[in-house]
Amino acid sequence: MNFKEEQKKRVKEIEEILEHYLPKEEGFQKIVMEAMNYSVRAKGKRLRPMLMLETYQLFDGKEALIEPFMAAIEMVHTYSLVHDDLPAMDNDRYRRGRETTHIVYGHAMGILAGDALLNYAFQMLEEAYKKLKEMEPIIGKEAFFEWLERIVQAQGILAKKAGIYGMLGGQVVDVQATEQQKVLTKEQLQFVYQLKTGALIEGAMMIGAFMAGASKEEILIVEQIARKVGVAFQIQDDILDVTSTTEVLGKPVLSDEKNHKVTYVSLKGMVYSKEQVEQLSKEAIWLLEDLERKRNRENPFLKELLLWLIYREK
Ligand code: IPE
Ligand code: IPE
Ligand code: MG
Ligand code: MG
Ligand code: MG
Repeated sequence: MNFKEEQKKRVKEIEEILEHYLPKEEGFQKIVMEAMNYSVRAKGKRLRPMLMLETYQLFDGKEALIEPFMAAIEMVHTYSLVHDDLPAMDNDRYRRGRETTHIVYGHAMGILAGDALLNYAFQMLEEAYKKLKEMEPIIGKEAFFEWLERIVQAQGILAKKAGIYGMLGGQVVDVQATEQQKVLTKEQLQFVYQLKTGALIEGAMMIGAFMAGASKEEILIVEQIARKVGVAFQIQDDILDVTSTTEVLGKPVLSDEKNHKVTYVSLKGMVYSKEQVEQLSKEAIWLLEDLERKRNRENPFLKELLLWLIYREK
């Protein structure tokens, strides 16, 4: 498998799905749709929808009913970035290789575009329902209700992993610690990473598994895998904030230092941080391999993707 080629192909497919669901730029409020589309269309890695689809396929998911959820998670993630960059938070001017939404559209519109993306993400429930309604004559009543339950529960996972028990909760502790210049313990820092970054990755993979009909036990394992991936991903993000360049990253380097942020790197040093990324990623891959063995089903791309994340440069 040529990983890079496969990854490119998947990014393209995901962006086509996203494009399908993005709002039309029209009406008196047109400016907010422009700002939403500006932020979503900017080149991101599309990691969360990718993980969602790969996990869905690992559990033999085939129906296009996953697509609205792939769009929804990327919208929630993008909203989190738009708000994270605001002057009241990390105050960063670049994101995904271009000026941040609030720089282009103004601070107020940055706030509103973020809010709009979050709301629009939850409108995807209706899109999933419409798709299901179209399938009903073919799949029959029983399967219809089974899918309906999956859709409702997947929406619940998304809400939980985005909100106070997830990404937003992590951002709260991150912001508070930065404002108060608190030195967090390793445990507190782990909590922040698990929530601010881990939670949406957990949500992505769990929704993939859930929509494909995975069992409760399997979903718990998927959550564990995603948690390790998520924390490793954030530590790598901290490392890149120090070691990379703005050109490669597409966002400002040394943002954490500028904000006097306690990170894994500032707390534990570069060597330890790199070891942690490797260790957590390896543990995630072991759990995944175990799951694959039990199901007698493999997803080599997913494994490669988790390996790529350890050494990613952006
Ligand atoms: C950035 O996420 C924010 C973090 C959680 C570290 P990504 O690194 O996935 O950003 P994009 O989507 O590729 O721009
Ligand atoms: C942000 O962490 C995680 C989010 C929930 C957006 P960072 O503040 O380190 O993310 P970047 O470096 O701005 O992408
Ligand atoms: Mg931040
Ligand atoms: Mg930031
Ligand atoms: Mg960062």
